[in-house]
This record gives sequence, structure tokens and C-alpha cells, in this order.
Amino acid sequence: MIRRRDFLHQGTLGATVLLLASKIGWASAAGSRTADSRIEVLFDEPLGTISPNIYGHFVENLSGVLYDGIWVGEKSPLPNVDGLRKSVIEHMRKIKATVIRFPGGCFADSYDWRDGIGPAEKRPRRTNFWAMGESEKAPASHRYDPNAVGTNEFVHFCKLIGAEPYLAANVRSLPASAFQQWVEYCNSPAGSTTLGDARAAAGYAEPFRVRYWGVGNESWGCGGEFTPQEYAVEFRRYATWLPTYGDNLNLIASGPNTDDWNWTREFLQEVLRKGPGELHRIYGMALHHYAWNLSRGKTQEWVAGKGEAVKFEPVDWYELLREGERMEGLVTGHWQVLSEFDHQHRVKLVVDEWGPWYRPGSEATPGDQLEQMPTLRDAVFSGMTLDIFNRHPEKVAMANCAQLINCLNSLYLAHEDKFVITPVGHVFELYAGHQGGQALRTIFSAPNLHYDRDGQAASFWGLRGSASVRDKNLTITAVNPSTNDPRLAEIALKGATVKEASMRFLSSADIHAHNTFEQRDVLVPATKAVTVSGGTLVVEFPPASVAALTIQLN
Ligand code: AHR
Repeated sequence: MIRRRDFLHQGTLGATVLLLASKIGWASAAGSRTADSRIEVLFDEPLGTISPNIYGHFVENLSGVLYDGIWVGEKSPLPNVDGLRKSVIEHMRKIKATVIRFPGGCFADSYDWRDGIGPAEKRPRRTNFWAMGESEKAPASHRYDPNAVGTNEFVHFCKLIGAEPYLAANVRSLPASAFQQWVEYCNSPAGSTTLGDARAAAGYAEPFRVRYWGVGNESWGCGGEFTPQEYAVEFRRYATWLPTYGDNLNLIASGPNTDDWNWTREFLQEVLRKGPGELHRIYGMALHHYAWNLSRGKTQEWVAGKGEAVKFEPVDWYELLREGERMEGLVTGHWQVLSEFDHQHRVKLVVDEWGPWYRPGSEATPGDQLEQMPTLRDAVFSGMTLDIFNRHPEKVAMANCAQLINCLNSLYLAHEDKFVITPVGHVFELYAGHQGGQALRTIFSAPNLHYDRDGQAASFWGLRGSASVRDKNLTITAVNPSTNDPRLAEIALKGATVKEASMRFLSSADIHAHNTFEQRDVLVPATKAVTVSGGTLVVEFPPASVAALTIQLN
């Protein structure tokens, strides 16, 4: 039986209808129907500020993610900015991408940042962590890392977008001094250190001011096969001293896989054996959760348990959402464990890898490892996940969708001159209004939906989402998971009145709808004004939809 950690240890082994939002007042498109659902936004129950970093991304040096996806090369005829794919930069600016994690993932714990600086032609080629899993079709750069993209190029990519870099340090195969010197290279002023001068000589006189640093990745698996106690000892050692240059460094500890409560508890227990002050070294506890097991309880086997990305039945649609729904329990559960040790909750959760993970076969570019085709199901899943983070703003400080391009839950697919925004990319655009908003407790009441799960009656909630307010702008996002039924919802604002409202959403009559290089606009957001009647909004959420309402308040 192959479990996920074994896999990672081996390392490499139709016609779509664009539904238009109805112009809805009580008696217009809603017709004689009465609302079956209700959303109450409670303005006097703020939950906390939604960290913009919840809308974060992840770029690993893995197969087509970096080389082909992001990096096309300075001499490429393809539209690029200093070798970086222009279309990616442009769309990431549009969705206000906030933070990007690099260079892994499992790759991080075999990466030496020193290979990626200095003149490009002098940089060494190294065997990529993922090399052994590459297919024969894969270009050499996917197997043997040319190091064309190093710290300078990645940070430049972030700055072009307006995002912050989040770098993951190598704990498995480099000493703590290499971590210290990476920080020094990035953050020391030109003229102060040899490494600061090396950065300046490469054209980057201003310090990068990298504030987010991961101390290893999945240290329970590909990051070193540590026990939580062993990793805690390493964490303390790597975190004991790092140079700062006026900016606090936010260290993120390698956290649990899904519901491994034991990892969180025993890591903290061991860290704190040296005293409560050790807690101050930890900004965040990472948490990874992939929705991969679509076997409906038949197996826990990593390969056999996975489902298809595009060819699926409605029951598989619901199974994925059930797997995704686990995120809420993971956030509250690990938070509960943190509270056993950290009564003031200084340490936040950083969900730095999340998304669905299907079996191979749907790659837009055959040969790209771990690449899959995101469909409407993944858009709904992503909206649902972002809503969970929005509902827990005091707990989740950052989240990074895995991964940005040519990989698992990608926002983009690209190959040579081809580029497409996936439904997941569109969800990030729909949800951008939540960034930095004040989350409000919001009650979604809707009938559960019912379906057949291998002869057993199964049910799932009928409508859920999140709401936040910034200045006079209220954003409500919601997911209707039903593959068949629309939800007609009455929205009541308790403590505010509406000036005007509009809605954008993604939906399709085909639950498998997706965008390809050839058909790039099969699934794109539809927009329509929403009418208000007597201070109440009535909105129809189409079946299988993810929606964002933008409401201007008086
Ligand atoms: O995102 C792909 C891989 O999944 C990452 O490299 C690893 O951290 C995780 O297990």
C-alpha cells in the first residue's frame, strides 16, 4: 500500500451554458417562487480582519510549474517581462495576489539557494527532487534544474505582481548557516555584507525584505522523515538566530498533514521544553490538506483512492466537496491543539498547501507531472475553501493554493505560446474583495441536498459562504453545491442598508466544464445587476455555482 508520505519520500515515483444572473426583486425573476434559503449578515458580530495573505499562492520547482509555466526566458519570443511570462504577471496583478511561496514543497529540502545566484550561465545544473517521476516527454529543465530562476528572479516576479515572497528554507540537507546566509543575501543592505553586495551586483541594490520564511517543508515526510520531537529540536536550532535588518522575520514551522493532531501537539510540547519564550519564535504553524481520497471510504491507498479530474459522476462531485469540507474541522481542530500551549494564540495557522489532487491523465501538456485540468468542480471547491478561511480570520494568517500553474489546483495552464485562466483563477478574482475586510458572522440557512452514496442516503449542506465589509463595501461569497437545484436566497443585512448590489458568478449546465488552450472562455464569470426590494436582496444562486456579491452600503 502506498501512502502519501511514502509517495513523497520516493519523491518521484459540451456545451456550456453561461448562466446570466437574474435581475431579481421579490417579484421579477424570482417570479412566484418563495425563497428557500436565507443569509443573515450580522454587522455587530465582527470576526476579525481577513488577512490578505489567505489569498496566497505556491510555486514549486516541479515539472512545468517554473520552467514553461512562469519562466520562458529573456530571449523568448513569447511576451515576457525579464524572462517571466507576462500573462501570468498581468492576471496575478488583477487578482491582487498577495504572497507567493517558493521553491517548494518537497523540492525546498533538496535546494541550495546558492546555486541560483550569480551569472545565469555559470549556475550549476542539479538533479531536481522530482526528476525520477518525469516522463520521457519532459524537457531536460524539468529533470535537471538549470537554476535559471533563483532568488533574484523569483523575488523580481513577486515585485512585478505586487506580492510578497515566502521562501522555504532547506532543513533536510543544508546546515542552519545556509539559512542564515540566505536571509543575509536577501535582506542585508548593499554595502553591509558580501552577500548584500552580491545581490546589488546582480542589479538588486534594494534589500528584498523577505519577511516570511518556512523552516523546512513536510518535515514528517519528504522534508526529512523527522518525528515531531526531532523536528522541534531542528526548528529551535534553525530559529535560534537569524539576522534581521529592521523587519521582523515571520517563521513558519513545518506543520501537520491533514488531521495529524499528534504532530502539532508533540512538536509544540518539545519546542516548549526549553520554556514558554520559545513560542515567540513561531509566527505560524503550517497545515497541508489535499482532497485526494474519492474512494468513498473504500480505501486509504494513495494511488487507488484518487479520482478522475474531468471524467466524474455527480457522486464524485459531492465526494470531493466532502473532502474539502474537512478543512473547517482541520482549522478548528489544530487551533484547539495550539490553544493547549499558546493561550494567547500568538501562533497562527498557515495553510500553505491546499487543493484537490487527482490521478494523472488530464494534463493540458502531456508529460507535465502532477498537472491536472481544473473544472467547475474545482472552482466550487476553491470558493468553499476560501470561505472557510474567511470565516476563521483570527486563526488563519496565510494560505497558499497548490499550485499556481501547470500543477494541481492551478489558476493557470501554459505551454509555450499557449495560456489559459482556469476556473480556479476566476474564483480568485471573484473573491479578491475579501482581502483585508472585516469578516462578519453570517448565517446561511438552506435545505440540505441529498444524493445516493453507494446505496446509502447521503446529504450535504445546501448553501454556504462568507461575508466581509471594508469601508462601505460588503462582499458576500457563496457556493451552491447542488448539481441540480438553484437556491433562491433572501439576504438580510442586520445593521446596514443597501445602496446598490451586483453579482458575479461561475456556473455551467455541465459540471465538468473547464477551459482549455483551444477553448479558453468556456467558464468565465457572468455579471448582472441585482435589484433590491425594500432593503432586502433576493438572489438566485444557480446549481453548481460559486458567486460573489458586491454590495455598496449607505
Ligand atoms: O504540491 C505537491 C507536493 O505536495 C509538495 O511538494 C509537497 O509539499 C506536498 O506533499
